[in-house]
Amino acid sequence: MAISKDQFKQGMRRLGGAVNIVTAADGEVWAGLTATAVTSLSAEPPRLLACINRQGVTYDIVSKGRTLGVNVLGTAHKALAMRFAGMDGEGETERFDGGNWFTAKSGAPLLTGALVSFDCTVESILDAGSHAIVIGNIEAVKVGAGDTLDPLCYLDGEWGTFQPLV
Ligand SMILES: Cc1cc2nc3c(=O)[nH]c(=O)nc-3n(C[C@H](O)[C@H](O)[C@H](O)COP(=O)(O)O)c2cc1C
Repeated sequence: MAISKDQFKQGMRRLGGAVNIVTAADGEVWAGLTATAVTSLSAEPPRLLACINRQGVTYDIVSKGRTLGVNVLGTAHKALAMRFAGMDGEGETERFDGGNWFTAKSGAPLLTGALVSFDCTVESILDAGSHAIVIGNIEAVKVGAGDTLDPLCYLDGEWGTFQPLV
């Protein structure tokens, strides 16, 4: 028997992760969402993947524009992460009013001040149910300034950061 939606959610709450804003552009139209489902995929060729809800605007723009930006967030970006998750009451079109964004070579918007940003073209999109696995060819990597890393993380419904063990 299949597990319930609640069992799925209960389990996934314990699968903590780094928080990213995944972006896309189709011409002049930008879209983006907050996502923890982002993973390094292949070193040769350089690829990553992001799992994106097929019902949303971002998926639409990723599919049409074939561009993908991945911005790894720091703790200072908590409010921005909430905005791109639709948690602050702002509409989708206002998302990019927060933060300082520039257009990467692929056309996707990247965030100035991210821990690191990846500019990708879309290699392939695999239907996986409610979400799609979007595989990106990494065309450029922009590593943020500064040595201190304070990644924004999400676990059990809470925002936090990485704590090294001593
Ligand atoms: C911490 C966190 C992680 C999330 N991770 C993902 C994810 O990996 N993929 C996804 O499609 N949505 C994820 N979401 C939900 C989207 O951010 C949210 O549904 C967003 O409003 C969708 O925007 P869209 O309508 O432009 O697609 C996450 C939300 C939060 C708060």
